[in-house]
Amino acid sequence: MAGLIPRQFIDDLLARADIVELVESRVPLKKAGKNYQACCPFHTEKSPSFTVSQDKQFYHCFGCGEHGNAISFLMEFDRLDFPDAVDELASHYNMEVPKEQNNQSPAQQRQQQIAYQQKQDDYELMGQISQFYQQQLKVAEDKSTAVDYLKGRGLSGEIVKRFGIGYISDVWDGMMKVFGRNPQMNQQLVDLGMAIQGDKNRPYDRFRGRIQFPIRDKRGRVIGFGGRVLSDGTPKYLNSPETRIYHKGQELYGLYEAKQANKKLTRLVVVEGYMDVVALAQHGVDYAVASLGTATTPEQLQTLFRTVREVICCYDGDRAGRDAAWRAMDNALPLIQDGFSLRFVFLPDGEDPDSLIRKQGQQAFEAILDNAKPLSEFLFEHLTQQVDIKSLEGKAGLIELFQPYLNKLPASVLKDGILTSLANRFVGGSEKQLAELHKRHASPAQKQSAKQKNKVTPVRLAIALLLEYPHIVQVLPDDMVLQELDMPGVSLLNQLVTLCKSNLQVNSAQLLEHFRDTEQGKQLAKLMCWQHHVEADAAENVFLDSIEKLLNNFVEQRTEFLLQQERNVGLNKTEKLELHALLCS
Ligand code: CTP
Ligand code: MN
Repeated sequence: MAGLIPRQFIDDLLARADIVELVESRVPLKKAGKNYQACCPFHTEKSPSFTVSQDKQFYHCFGCGEHGNAISFLMEFDRLDFPDAVDELASHYNMEVPKEQNNQSPAQQRQQQIAYQQKQDDYELMGQISQFYQQQLKVAEDKSTAVDYLKGRGLSGEIVKRFGIGYISDVWDGMMKVFGRNPQMNQQLVDLGMAIQGDKNRPYDRFRGRIQFPIRDKRGRVIGFGGRVLSDGTPKYLNSPETRIYHKGQELYGLYEAKQANKKLTRLVVVEGYMDVVALAQHGVDYAVASLGTATTPEQLQTLFRTVREVICCYDGDRAGRDAAWRAMDNALPLIQDGFSLRFVFLPDGEDPDSLIRKQGQQAFEAILDNAKPLSEFLFEHLTQQVDIKSLEGKAGLIELFQPYLNKLPASVLKDGILTSLANRFVGGSEKQLAELHKRHASPAQKQSAKQKNKVTPVRLAIALLLEYPHIVQVLPDDMVLQELDMPGVSLLNQLVTLCKSNLQVNSAQLLEHFRDTEQGKQLAKLMCWQHHVEADAAENVFLDSIEKLLNNFVEQRTEFLLQQERNVGLNKTEKLELHALLCS
Protein backbone atom coordinates (compact mmCIF):
# COMPACT_ATOMS: atom_id res chain seq x y z
CA MET A 1 0.00 0.00 0.00
CA ALA A 2 1.23 3.48 -0.78
CA GLY A 3 2.31 5.40 2.29
CA LEU A 4 0.96 8.64 3.61
CA ILE A 5 2.34 11.89 2.38
CA PRO A 6 4.43 13.33 5.22
CA ARG A 7 2.88 16.36 6.91
CA GLN A 8 6.15 18.25 6.65
CA PHE A 9 6.14 17.92 2.88
CA ILE A 10 2.62 19.28 2.61
CA ASP A 11 3.64 22.18 4.81
CA ASP A 12 6.65 22.91 2.60
CA LEU A 13 4.58 22.60 -0.52
CA LEU A 14 1.99 25.07 0.73
CA ALA A 15 4.75 27.45 1.76
CA ARG A 16 6.11 27.31 -1.78
CA ALA A 17 2.78 27.41 -3.60
CA ASP A 18 1.20 30.64 -4.69
CA ILE A 19 -2.56 30.36 -4.83
CA VAL A 20 -2.96 33.48 -6.93
CA GLU A 21 -0.69 32.09 -9.61
CA LEU A 22 -2.38 28.71 -9.43
CA VAL A 23 -5.92 30.05 -9.70
CA GLU A 24 -4.85 32.52 -12.38
CA SER A 25 -3.61 29.65 -14.54
CA ARG A 26 -7.19 28.37 -14.68
CA VAL A 27 -9.44 31.36 -13.97
CA PRO A 28 -8.52 34.89 -15.08
CA LEU A 29 -8.29 37.10 -11.99
CA LYS A 30 -8.65 40.82 -11.50
CA LYS A 31 -6.90 42.70 -8.75
CA ALA A 32 -9.34 44.20 -6.27
CA GLY A 33 -7.66 46.00 -3.42
CA LYS A 34 -5.48 43.58 -1.54
CA ASN A 35 -7.21 40.56 -3.07
CA TYR A 36 -8.02 39.14 -6.46
CA GLN A 37 -11.48 38.52 -7.86
CA ALA A 38 -13.27 36.58 -10.55
CA CYS A 39 -16.66 35.19 -11.37
CA CYS A 40 -16.84 32.00 -9.36
CA PRO A 41 -15.76 28.91 -11.31
CA PHE A 42 -17.87 26.74 -9.03
CA HIS A 43 -21.26 28.29 -9.63
CA THR A 44 -22.88 30.48 -12.25
CA GLU A 45 -22.88 34.17 -11.51
CA LYS A 46 -22.79 37.50 -13.29
CA SER A 47 -20.80 39.64 -10.87
CA PRO A 48 -17.63 38.34 -9.24
CA SER A 49 -17.91 37.09 -5.68
CA PHE A 50 -14.98 34.69 -5.87
CA THR A 51 -12.03 36.11 -3.95
CA VAL A 52 -8.45 34.92 -3.76
CA SER A 53 -6.21 36.21 -1.02
CA GLN A 54 -2.47 36.20 -1.46
CA ASP A 55 -1.82 36.80 2.22
CA LYS A 56 -4.05 34.04 3.42
CA GLN A 57 -3.24 31.76 0.47
CA PHE A 58 -6.94 31.05 0.50
CA TYR A 59 -9.91 31.41 -1.82
CA HIS A 60 -13.51 31.96 -0.92
CA CYS A 61 -16.72 32.55 -2.81
CA PHE A 62 -19.24 34.72 -1.04
CA GLY A 63 -21.88 33.44 -3.41
CA CYS A 64 -21.67 29.68 -3.04
CA GLY A 65 -19.37 29.32 -0.06
CA GLU A 66 -16.64 27.29 -1.80
CA HIS A 67 -13.32 27.90 -0.11
CA GLY A 68 -9.94 26.40 0.59
CA ASN A 69 -6.21 26.49 -0.06
CA ALA A 70 -4.17 25.60 -3.13
CA ILE A 71 -4.65 21.87 -2.63
CA SER A 72 -8.40 22.26 -2.19
CA PHE A 73 -8.54 24.36 -5.33
CA LEU A 74 -6.94 21.62 -7.40
CA MET A 75 -9.22 19.02 -5.83
CA GLU A 76 -12.29 21.04 -6.70
CA PHE A 77 -11.31 22.60 -9.98
CA ASP A 78 -9.39 19.74 -11.54
CA ARG A 79 -11.57 17.25 -9.66
CA LEU A 80 -8.63 15.35 -8.22
CA ASP A 81 -8.47 13.41 -5.01
CA PHE A 82 -6.13 14.55 -2.28
CA PRO A 83 -2.96 12.60 -3.23
CA ASP A 84 -3.35 13.55 -6.89
CA ALA A 85 -3.88 17.19 -6.03
CA VAL A 86 -0.73 17.19 -3.92
CA ASP A 87 1.15 15.45 -6.71
CA GLU A 88 -0.11 17.91 -9.28
CA LEU A 89 0.80 20.93 -7.18
CA ALA A 90 4.21 19.44 -6.38
CA SER A 91 5.01 18.76 -10.02
CA HIS A 92 4.31 22.44 -10.67
CA TYR A 93 7.19 23.34 -8.38
CA ASN A 94 9.40 20.42 -9.39
CA MET A 95 9.02 18.89 -5.98
CA GLU A 96 8.80 15.14 -5.63
CA VAL A 97 6.20 13.78 -3.25
CA PRO A 98 7.84 11.49 -0.69
CA LYS A 99 5.82 8.77 0.97
CA GLU A 100 5.89 8.19 4.66
CA GLN A 101 7.00 4.66 5.40
CA ASN A 102 7.44 4.16 9.07
CA ASN A 103 7.95 0.42 8.81
CA GLN A 104 10.04 0.32 5.69
CA SER A 105 13.73 -0.35 5.45
CA PRO A 106 15.95 2.01 3.48
CA ALA A 107 16.17 -0.66 0.81
CA GLN A 108 12.39 -0.75 0.49
CA GLN A 109 12.24 3.02 0.37
CA ARG A 110 14.84 3.00 -2.37
CA GLN A 111 12.72 0.47 -4.22
CA GLN A 112 9.72 2.74 -3.97
CA GLN A 113 11.74 5.66 -5.21
CA ILE A 114 12.76 3.64 -8.27
CA ALA A 115 9.17 2.59 -8.90
CA TYR A 116 8.07 6.22 -8.76
CA GLN A 117 10.76 7.25 -11.22
CA GLN A 118 9.85 4.36 -13.45
CA LYS A 119 6.23 5.50 -13.64
CA GLN A 120 7.24 9.05 -14.48
CA ASP A 121 9.29 7.59 -17.36
CA ASP A 122 6.34 5.46 -18.40
CA TYR A 123 3.97 8.42 -18.63
CA GLU A 124 6.55 10.32 -20.61
CA LEU A 125 7.05 7.46 -23.06
CA MET A 126 3.33 6.79 -23.52
CA GLY A 127 2.83 10.50 -24.21
CA GLN A 128 5.52 10.38 -26.89
CA ILE A 129 4.01 7.30 -28.51
CA SER A 130 0.63 9.01 -28.58
CA GLN A 131 2.22 12.00 -30.30
CA PHE A 132 3.81 9.63 -32.77
CA TYR A 133 0.48 7.93 -33.60
CA GLN A 134 -1.13 11.33 -34.12
CA GLN A 135 1.66 12.38 -36.40
CA GLN A 136 1.18 9.24 -38.47
CA LEU A 137 -2.20 10.64 -39.58
CA LYS A 138 -0.15 13.29 -41.37
CA VAL A 139 2.91 11.43 -42.56
CA ALA A 140 2.21 7.71 -42.93
CA GLU A 141 2.37 6.41 -46.47
CA ASP A 142 -1.18 5.08 -46.20
CA LYS A 143 -2.44 8.01 -44.13
CA SER A 144 -5.30 8.71 -46.52
CA THR A 145 -6.97 5.39 -45.65
CA ALA A 146 -6.98 6.40 -42.02
CA VAL A 147 -8.03 9.98 -42.61
CA ASP A 148 -10.82 8.80 -44.91
CA TYR A 149 -11.97 6.34 -42.29
CA LEU A 150 -12.23 9.06 -39.64
CA LYS A 151 -13.98 11.41 -42.04
CA GLY A 152 -16.32 8.60 -42.99
CA ARG A 153 -17.27 8.31 -39.35
CA GLY A 154 -18.12 11.97 -39.27
CA LEU A 155 -15.20 13.23 -37.20
CA SER A 156 -13.71 16.67 -37.70
CA GLY A 157 -10.02 17.45 -37.41
CA GLU A 158 -10.75 19.42 -34.28
CA ILE A 159 -12.34 16.47 -32.48
CA VAL A 160 -9.63 14.07 -33.65
CA LYS A 161 -7.12 16.46 -32.12
CA ARG A 162 -9.07 16.98 -28.89
CA PHE A 163 -9.09 13.24 -28.28
CA GLY A 164 -5.56 12.76 -29.52
CA ILE A 165 -6.70 10.13 -31.99
CA GLY A 166 -3.90 8.67 -34.12
CA TYR A 167 -3.03 5.90 -36.53
CA ILE A 168 -0.50 3.17 -37.00
CA SER A 169 0.09 1.37 -40.31
CA ASP A 170 -0.18 -2.37 -40.61
CA VAL A 171 3.49 -3.34 -40.22
CA TRP A 172 5.26 -5.31 -37.51
CA ASP A 173 7.48 -2.60 -36.16
CA GLY A 174 5.91 0.77 -37.02
CA MET A 175 6.21 1.95 -33.44
CA MET A 176 9.12 -0.24 -32.31
CA LYS A 177 11.30 1.03 -35.13
CA VAL A 178 11.10 4.47 -33.53
CA PHE A 179 10.94 3.70 -29.82
CA GLY A 180 12.68 0.34 -29.38
CA ARG A 181 16.09 1.90 -29.29
CA ASN A 182 17.79 -0.48 -26.88
CA PRO A 183 17.04 -3.63 -24.88
CA GLN A 184 15.98 -1.56 -21.90
CA MET A 185 13.41 0.38 -23.89
CA ASN A 186 12.21 -2.79 -25.55
CA GLN A 187 11.50 -4.18 -22.12
CA GLN A 188 9.70 -1.01 -21.03
CA LEU A 189 7.52 -1.15 -24.15
CA VAL A 190 6.64 -4.77 -23.43
CA ASP A 191 5.86 -3.87 -19.80
CA LEU A 192 3.58 -1.08 -20.97
CA GLY A 193 1.70 -3.43 -23.28
CA MET A 194 2.81 -1.59 -26.39
CA ALA A 195 4.94 -4.42 -27.71
CA ILE A 196 4.74 -8.18 -27.59
CA GLN A 197 7.71 -10.40 -26.88
CA GLY A 198 7.48 -13.26 -29.39
CA ASP A 199 9.80 -16.21 -29.72
CA LYS A 200 12.26 -14.16 -31.65
CA ASN A 201 14.57 -11.76 -29.88
CA ARG A 202 12.97 -8.54 -30.85
CA PRO A 203 9.50 -7.63 -29.59
CA TYR A 204 6.97 -6.39 -32.14
CA ASP A 205 4.12 -3.84 -32.16
CA ARG A 206 0.92 -4.88 -30.38
CA PHE A 207 -1.14 -2.35 -32.33
CA ARG A 208 -0.92 -2.63 -36.11
CA GLY A 209 -3.12 -1.17 -38.81
CA ARG A 210 -5.42 0.57 -36.38
CA ILE A 211 -6.94 3.88 -35.43
CA GLN A 212 -5.44 4.60 -32.02
CA PHE A 213 -7.49 6.11 -29.18
CA PRO A 214 -5.24 7.19 -26.31
CA ILE A 215 -6.68 6.44 -22.88
CA ARG A 216 -5.83 9.26 -20.50
CA ASP A 217 -6.03 9.24 -16.74
CA LYS A 218 -7.87 11.99 -14.91
CA ARG A 219 -4.78 14.16 -15.04
CA GLY A 220 -4.50 13.79 -18.76
CA ARG A 221 -1.54 11.42 -18.86
CA VAL A 222 -1.66 8.73 -21.54
CA ILE A 223 -1.77 5.34 -19.84
CA GLY A 224 -3.02 3.02 -22.55
CA PHE A 225 -4.62 2.74 -25.97
CA GLY A 226 -7.61 1.28 -27.68
CA GLY A 227 -7.07 0.47 -31.33
CA ARG A 228 -9.79 -0.07 -33.94
CA VAL A 229 -9.28 -1.90 -37.20
CA LEU A 230 -10.07 0.09 -40.31
CA SER A 231 -11.98 -2.63 -42.08
CA ASP A 232 -13.66 -5.82 -40.87
CA GLY A 233 -10.62 -7.45 -39.33
CA THR A 234 -10.75 -9.02 -35.90
CA PRO A 235 -10.67 -8.22 -33.17
CA LYS A 236 -12.54 -5.01 -33.95
CA TYR A 237 -11.00 -3.34 -30.93
CA LEU A 238 -7.70 -4.15 -29.34
CA ASN A 239 -6.97 -2.70 -25.92
CA SER A 240 -3.90 -2.20 -23.77
CA PRO A 241 -3.54 -4.93 -21.17
CA GLU A 242 -3.32 -4.10 -17.46
CA THR A 243 0.09 -2.60 -16.74
CA ARG A 244 1.80 -0.85 -13.86
CA ILE A 245 0.19 2.42 -14.98
CA TYR A 246 -3.06 1.18 -16.51
CA HIS A 247 -5.81 -0.44 -14.46
CA LYS A 248 -8.87 -0.43 -16.64
CA GLY A 249 -11.41 -0.87 -13.85
CA GLN A 250 -10.32 2.45 -12.41
CA GLU A 251 -10.30 4.54 -15.53
CA LEU A 252 -13.01 6.14 -17.63
CA TYR A 253 -12.31 6.87 -21.27
CA GLY A 254 -13.11 10.49 -22.05
CA LEU A 255 -13.30 11.80 -18.49
CA TYR A 256 -10.26 14.03 -18.88
CA GLU A 257 -11.55 15.39 -22.17
CA ALA A 258 -15.01 16.01 -20.66
CA LYS A 259 -13.47 17.92 -17.78
CA GLN A 260 -11.33 19.94 -20.15
CA ALA A 261 -14.33 20.83 -22.29
CA ASN A 262 -16.59 21.74 -19.34
CA LYS A 263 -15.32 23.72 -16.44
CA LYS A 264 -18.71 23.34 -14.84
CA LEU A 265 -19.45 19.74 -15.53
CA THR A 266 -22.83 18.83 -14.00
CA ARG A 267 -23.63 15.52 -15.56
CA LEU A 268 -21.90 12.59 -17.21
CA VAL A 269 -23.22 9.99 -19.59
CA VAL A 270 -21.71 6.53 -19.50
CA VAL A 271 -21.61 4.77 -22.85
CA GLU A 272 -20.00 1.59 -24.09
CA GLY A 273 -17.53 2.49 -26.77
CA TYR A 274 -14.69 4.80 -27.67
CA MET A 275 -16.47 5.84 -30.83
CA ASP A 276 -19.62 6.65 -28.90
CA VAL A 277 -17.74 9.07 -26.66
CA VAL A 278 -16.02 10.73 -29.58
CA ALA A 279 -19.11 10.91 -31.80
CA LEU A 280 -21.17 12.42 -28.99
CA ALA A 281 -18.50 15.09 -28.44
CA GLN A 282 -18.49 15.73 -32.17
CA HIS A 283 -22.19 16.57 -31.94
CA GLY A 284 -21.96 18.75 -28.86
CA VAL A 285 -22.61 16.17 -26.16
CA ASP A 286 -19.14 16.63 -24.71
CA TYR A 287 -19.79 14.97 -21.37
CA ALA A 288 -19.72 11.27 -22.19
CA VAL A 289 -17.33 8.65 -20.88
CA ALA A 290 -16.84 4.96 -21.62
CA SER A 291 -16.22 2.36 -19.00
CA LEU A 292 -13.55 0.39 -20.91
CA GLY A 293 -15.11 -2.99 -20.34
CA THR A 294 -18.52 -4.49 -19.98
CA ALA A 295 -19.38 -3.69 -16.37
CA THR A 296 -19.04 -0.33 -14.69
CA THR A 297 -16.95 -0.98 -11.58
CA PRO A 298 -17.52 0.45 -8.09
CA GLU A 299 -14.31 2.47 -8.49
CA GLN A 300 -15.55 3.99 -11.73
CA LEU A 301 -18.89 4.85 -10.18
CA GLN A 302 -17.13 6.48 -7.27
CA THR A 303 -15.10 8.58 -9.67
CA LEU A 304 -18.28 9.50 -11.54
CA PHE A 305 -20.12 10.63 -8.42
CA ARG A 306 -17.10 12.49 -7.14
CA THR A 307 -17.10 14.42 -10.36
CA VAL A 308 -20.81 15.13 -10.85
CA ARG A 309 -24.13 14.53 -9.15
CA GLU A 310 -26.02 13.34 -12.16
CA VAL A 311 -24.98 10.18 -13.98
CA ILE A 312 -26.86 8.65 -16.90
CA CYS A 313 -25.94 5.17 -18.06
CA CYS A 314 -26.67 4.59 -21.68
CA TYR A 315 -26.84 0.98 -22.82
CA ASP A 316 -28.16 -1.23 -25.57
CA GLY A 317 -31.76 -2.21 -25.09
CA ASP A 318 -30.88 -5.90 -25.39
CA ARG A 319 -30.37 -8.46 -22.65
CA ALA A 320 -26.64 -7.70 -22.31
CA GLY A 321 -27.33 -3.98 -22.02
CA ARG A 322 -29.95 -4.50 -19.30
CA ASP A 323 -27.62 -6.78 -17.39
CA ALA A 324 -24.83 -4.23 -17.60
CA ALA A 325 -27.20 -1.54 -16.34
CA TRP A 326 -28.32 -3.73 -13.47
CA ARG A 327 -24.74 -4.39 -12.38
CA ALA A 328 -23.89 -0.70 -12.59
CA MET A 329 -26.93 0.12 -10.48
CA ASP A 330 -26.02 -2.46 -7.90
CA ASN A 331 -22.51 -1.02 -7.62
CA ALA A 332 -23.83 2.52 -7.43
CA LEU A 333 -26.52 2.10 -4.76
CA PRO A 334 -24.29 2.91 -1.76
CA LEU A 335 -23.26 6.16 -3.45
CA ILE A 336 -26.72 7.57 -4.15
CA GLN A 337 -27.17 10.11 -1.41
CA ASP A 338 -29.64 12.97 -1.48
CA GLY A 339 -28.82 15.26 -4.34
CA PHE A 340 -27.28 12.51 -6.47
CA SER A 341 -29.03 10.72 -9.27
CA LEU A 342 -28.41 7.71 -11.45
CA ARG A 343 -30.64 7.12 -14.45
CA PHE A 344 -30.75 4.78 -17.41
CA VAL A 345 -31.28 5.02 -21.11
CA PHE A 346 -31.90 1.90 -23.17
CA LEU A 347 -31.34 2.43 -26.86
CA PRO A 348 -33.51 1.02 -29.64
CA ASP A 349 -32.39 -2.21 -31.23
CA GLY A 350 -29.36 -1.91 -33.43
CA GLU A 351 -28.51 1.63 -32.38
CA ASP A 352 -25.65 2.93 -30.32
CA PRO A 353 -25.08 6.53 -29.20
CA ASP A 354 -22.82 7.10 -32.19
CA SER A 355 -25.38 5.99 -34.76
CA LEU A 356 -28.23 7.69 -32.95
CA ILE A 357 -26.69 11.12 -32.61
CA ARG A 358 -25.47 11.03 -36.19
CA LYS A 359 -29.00 10.39 -37.38
CA GLN A 360 -30.92 12.59 -34.98
CA GLY A 361 -28.52 15.24 -33.72
CA GLN A 362 -27.71 16.77 -30.36
CA GLN A 363 -31.17 18.02 -29.42
CA ALA A 364 -32.91 14.74 -29.96
CA PHE A 365 -30.19 12.88 -28.14
CA GLU A 366 -30.31 15.22 -25.17
CA ALA A 367 -34.07 14.86 -25.09
CA ILE A 368 -33.54 11.12 -24.71
CA LEU A 369 -31.12 11.81 -21.87
CA ASP A 370 -33.59 14.14 -20.19
CA ASN A 371 -36.16 11.37 -20.27
CA ALA A 372 -33.84 8.75 -18.84
CA LYS A 373 -35.41 6.18 -16.55
CA PRO A 374 -34.92 6.95 -12.84
CA LEU A 375 -33.19 4.37 -10.71
CA SER A 376 -36.32 3.62 -8.69
CA GLU A 377 -38.31 2.85 -11.81
CA PHE A 378 -35.61 0.57 -13.15
CA LEU A 379 -35.46 -1.19 -9.82
CA PHE A 380 -39.23 -1.76 -9.72
CA GLU A 381 -39.39 -2.91 -13.31
CA HIS A 382 -36.57 -5.33 -12.92
CA LEU A 383 -37.70 -6.84 -9.65
CA THR A 384 -41.41 -7.06 -10.43
CA GLN A 385 -40.54 -9.13 -13.50
CA GLN A 386 -39.19 -11.81 -11.24
CA VAL A 387 -42.38 -12.52 -9.31
CA ASP A 388 -46.08 -12.88 -9.96
CA ILE A 389 -47.25 -9.70 -8.27
CA LYS A 390 -50.89 -10.68 -8.60
CA SER A 391 -50.55 -13.30 -5.94
CA LEU A 392 -50.06 -12.73 -2.24
CA GLU A 393 -46.95 -14.88 -2.24
CA GLY A 394 -45.62 -12.86 -5.12
CA LYS A 395 -46.10 -9.60 -3.26
CA ALA A 396 -44.48 -11.01 -0.19
CA GLY A 397 -41.62 -12.31 -2.28
CA LEU A 398 -41.17 -8.91 -3.87
CA ILE A 399 -40.57 -7.29 -0.54
CA GLU A 400 -37.91 -9.88 0.15
CA LEU A 401 -36.37 -9.15 -3.23
CA PHE A 402 -36.14 -5.44 -2.46
CA GLN A 403 -34.46 -6.03 0.85
CA PRO A 404 -30.81 -6.35 -0.26
CA TYR A 405 -31.06 -3.28 -2.50
CA LEU A 406 -32.69 -1.16 0.15
CA ASN A 407 -29.96 -2.24 2.51
CA LYS A 408 -27.34 -0.80 0.18
CA LEU A 409 -29.05 2.58 -0.23
CA PRO A 410 -28.09 5.27 2.27
CA ALA A 411 -30.98 6.98 4.05
CA SER A 412 -32.38 9.47 1.58
CA VAL A 413 -35.48 10.91 -0.01
CA LEU A 414 -35.09 8.33 -2.74
CA LYS A 415 -35.09 5.48 -0.30
CA ASP A 416 -38.16 6.82 1.49
CA GLY A 417 -39.83 7.17 -1.88
CA ILE A 418 -39.10 3.57 -2.79
CA LEU A 419 -40.47 2.38 0.53
CA THR A 420 -43.61 4.43 0.07
CA SER A 421 -44.29 3.21 -3.42
CA LEU A 422 -43.62 -0.31 -2.32
CA ALA A 423 -46.29 0.20 0.33
CA ASN A 424 -48.72 1.95 -2.03
CA ARG A 425 -48.41 -0.35 -4.96
CA PHE A 426 -48.39 -3.58 -3.11
CA VAL A 427 -50.51 -3.12 -0.03
CA GLY A 428 -51.94 -6.37 1.03
CA GLY A 429 -48.79 -8.25 0.14
CA SER A 430 -48.09 -8.35 3.78
CA GLU A 431 -48.90 -5.38 5.91
CA LYS A 432 -46.76 -6.68 8.66
CA GLN A 433 -43.78 -7.14 6.41
CA LEU A 434 -44.17 -3.63 5.07
CA ALA A 435 -44.42 -2.14 8.50
CA GLU A 436 -41.33 -4.08 9.41
CA LEU A 437 -39.56 -2.83 6.30
CA HIS A 438 -40.44 0.75 7.12
CA LYS A 439 -39.21 0.39 10.63
CA ARG A 440 -35.93 -1.10 9.54
CA HIS A 441 -35.26 1.58 6.98
CA ALA A 442 -36.87 4.61 8.55
CA SER A 443 -34.70 7.59 7.80
CA PRO A 444 -33.17 9.21 10.84
CA ALA A 445 -35.05 12.16 12.29
CA GLN A 446 -34.63 15.28 10.25
CA LYS A 447 -31.20 16.54 10.95
CA GLN A 448 -31.23 19.63 13.05
CA SER A 449 -30.23 22.12 10.47
CA ALA A 450 -30.43 25.12 12.73
CA LYS A 451 -27.44 26.83 11.25
CA GLN A 452 -25.85 28.74 14.05
CA LYS A 453 -24.69 32.09 12.87
CA ASN A 454 -21.19 33.05 13.75
CA LYS A 455 -21.86 34.87 16.97
CA VAL A 456 -18.95 37.00 18.08
CA THR A 457 -17.48 35.22 21.06
CA PRO A 458 -13.97 35.83 22.33
CA VAL A 459 -12.89 32.31 21.32
CA ARG A 460 -14.25 32.67 17.81
CA LEU A 461 -12.68 36.03 17.31
CA ALA A 462 -9.32 34.87 18.67
CA ILE A 463 -9.32 31.87 16.36
CA ALA A 464 -10.39 33.86 13.32
CA LEU A 465 -7.69 36.46 13.88
CA LEU A 466 -4.99 33.92 14.53
CA LEU A 467 -5.94 32.04 11.39
CA GLU A 468 -5.77 35.16 9.34
CA TYR A 469 -2.68 36.69 10.92
CA PRO A 470 -0.73 33.75 12.39
CA HIS A 471 2.21 35.96 13.38
CA ILE A 472 0.16 37.71 16.08
CA VAL A 473 0.74 34.64 18.21
CA GLN A 474 3.92 36.40 19.27
CA VAL A 475 2.02 38.82 21.48
CA LEU A 476 1.06 35.99 23.79
CA PRO A 477 3.34 35.55 26.77
CA ASP A 478 5.29 32.30 26.59
CA ASP A 479 4.06 31.07 29.92
CA MET A 480 0.41 31.56 29.15
CA VAL A 481 -1.66 28.42 29.49
CA LEU A 482 -5.01 28.11 27.85
CA GLN A 483 -5.42 24.39 27.85
CA GLU A 484 -7.06 24.19 31.24
CA LEU A 485 -9.91 26.41 30.18
CA ASP A 486 -12.97 24.30 29.94
CA MET A 487 -14.83 26.13 27.23
CA PRO A 488 -15.97 25.21 23.73
CA GLY A 489 -13.37 26.07 21.14
CA VAL A 490 -10.51 26.53 23.55
CA SER A 491 -8.81 23.27 22.69
CA LEU A 492 -8.88 24.23 19.01
CA LEU A 493 -7.53 27.67 19.81
CA ASN A 494 -4.82 25.99 21.81
CA GLN A 495 -3.81 23.72 18.96
CA LEU A 496 -3.59 26.73 16.70
CA VAL A 497 -1.47 28.64 19.18
CA THR A 498 0.92 25.70 19.39
CA LEU A 499 1.12 25.37 15.60
CA CYS A 500 1.73 29.08 15.16
CA LYS A 501 4.38 29.17 17.85
CA SER A 502 6.24 26.23 16.39
CA ASN A 503 6.52 27.96 13.03
CA LEU A 504 6.38 31.72 13.07
CA GLN A 505 6.31 31.81 9.27
CA VAL A 506 3.23 29.62 8.99
CA ASN A 507 0.43 30.92 6.74
CA SER A 508 -3.32 30.47 6.86
CA ALA A 509 -3.37 27.81 4.16
CA GLN A 510 -0.87 25.66 6.03
CA LEU A 511 -2.79 26.00 9.27
CA LEU A 512 -6.00 24.91 7.63
CA GLU A 513 -4.29 21.98 5.97
CA HIS A 514 -3.59 20.48 9.39
CA PHE A 515 -7.29 20.11 9.92
CA ARG A 516 -8.37 18.80 6.50
CA ASP A 517 -11.37 16.46 6.64
CA THR A 518 -11.98 17.02 10.34
CA GLU A 519 -14.90 18.63 12.12
CA GLN A 520 -12.48 21.25 13.40
CA GLY A 521 -11.36 21.94 9.86
CA LYS A 522 -14.94 22.79 8.93
CA GLN A 523 -15.20 25.16 11.89
CA LEU A 524 -11.94 26.81 10.93
CA ALA A 525 -12.95 27.24 7.31
CA LYS A 526 -16.17 28.92 8.45
CA LEU A 527 -14.23 31.28 10.66
CA MET A 528 -11.80 31.96 7.86
CA CYS A 529 -14.63 33.17 5.68
CA TRP A 530 -16.26 35.13 8.45
CA GLN A 531 -16.20 38.87 8.01
CA HIS A 532 -15.27 40.22 11.40
CA HIS A 533 -14.24 43.65 10.10
CA VAL A 534 -11.04 43.77 12.13
CA GLU A 535 -8.35 45.55 10.12
CA ALA A 536 -4.85 44.12 9.88
CA ASP A 537 -3.22 46.78 12.00
CA ALA A 538 -5.74 46.28 14.78
CA ALA A 539 -5.54 42.50 14.71
CA GLU A 540 -2.89 42.15 17.38
CA ASN A 541 -4.75 44.29 19.91
CA VAL A 542 -8.12 42.78 19.27
CA PHE A 543 -6.58 39.34 19.55
CA LEU A 544 -5.03 40.12 22.93
CA ASP A 545 -8.32 41.61 24.01
CA SER A 546 -10.17 38.45 23.12
CA ILE A 547 -7.71 36.31 24.99
CA GLU A 548 -8.10 38.54 28.00
CA LYS A 549 -11.88 38.31 27.83
CA LEU A 550 -11.51 34.60 27.56
CA LEU A 551 -9.40 34.46 30.65
CA ASN A 552 -11.83 36.70 32.50
CA ASN A 553 -14.70 34.50 31.48
CA PHE A 554 -12.74 31.63 32.76
CA VAL A 555 -12.03 33.28 36.05
CA GLU A 556 -15.73 33.92 36.50
CA GLN A 557 -16.65 30.44 35.50
CA ARG A 558 -14.09 28.83 37.75
CA THR A 559 -14.92 31.06 40.71
CA GLU A 560 -18.57 30.28 40.34
CA PHE A 561 -17.77 26.59 40.20
CA LEU A 562 -15.58 26.64 43.30
CA LEU A 563 -18.11 28.66 45.26
CA GLN A 564 -20.80 26.18 44.46
CA GLN A 565 -18.52 23.30 45.27
CA GLU A 566 -17.79 24.88 48.62
CA ARG A 567 -21.49 25.12 49.44
CA ASN A 568 -22.24 21.61 48.31
CA VAL A 569 -19.39 19.38 49.33
CA GLY A 570 -16.65 21.59 50.65
CA LEU A 571 -13.21 22.28 49.16
CA ASN A 572 -9.84 20.67 49.71
CA LYS A 573 -6.78 22.68 50.54
CA THR A 574 -5.56 23.43 47.03
CA GLU A 575 -9.04 24.35 45.92
CA LYS A 576 -9.35 26.74 48.82
CA LEU A 577 -6.10 28.40 47.86
CA GLU A 578 -7.23 28.65 44.25
CA LEU A 579 -10.53 30.23 45.21
CA HIS A 580 -8.77 32.68 47.40
CA ALA A 581 -6.40 33.65 44.62
CA LEU A 582 -9.27 34.00 42.18
CA LEU A 583 -11.32 36.20 44.46
CA CYS A 584 -8.40 38.47 45.18
CA SER A 585 -7.11 38.81 41.63
N1 CTP B 1 -14.76 -3.73 -27.37
C1 CTP B 1 -13.57 -4.35 -27.12
N2 CTP B 1 -13.16 -5.39 -27.89
C2 CTP B 1 -13.92 -5.84 -28.91
C3 CTP B 1 -15.15 -5.22 -29.15
C4 CTP B 1 -15.55 -4.17 -28.37
O1 CTP B 1 -12.86 -3.95 -26.23
N3 CTP B 1 -13.49 -6.83 -29.63
C5 CTP B 1 -15.16 -2.60 -26.52
C6 CTP B 1 -14.59 -1.31 -27.01
O2 CTP B 1 -14.32 -0.49 -25.92
C7 CTP B 1 -15.70 -0.76 -27.84
C8 CTP B 1 -16.90 -1.19 -27.06
O3 CTP B 1 -16.56 -2.44 -26.53
O4 CTP B 1 -15.59 0.63 -27.97
C9 CTP B 1 -18.18 -1.30 -27.86
O5 CTP B 1 -18.02 -2.26 -28.85
P1 CTP B 1 -18.98 -2.38 -30.10
O6 CTP B 1 -20.37 -2.00 -29.71
O7 CTP B 1 -18.74 -3.67 -30.75
O8 CTP B 1 -18.35 -1.32 -31.04
P2 CTP B 1 -18.70 0.18 -31.27
O9 CTP B 1 -18.42 0.99 -30.08
O10 CTP B 1 -20.02 0.32 -31.88
O11 CTP B 1 -17.55 0.50 -32.29
P3 CTP B 1 -17.71 0.88 -33.77
O12 CTP B 1 -18.78 1.89 -33.80
O13 CTP B 1 -16.35 1.43 -34.07
O14 CTP B 1 -18.01 -0.34 -34.54
MN1 MN C 1 -20.75 1.81 -33.02
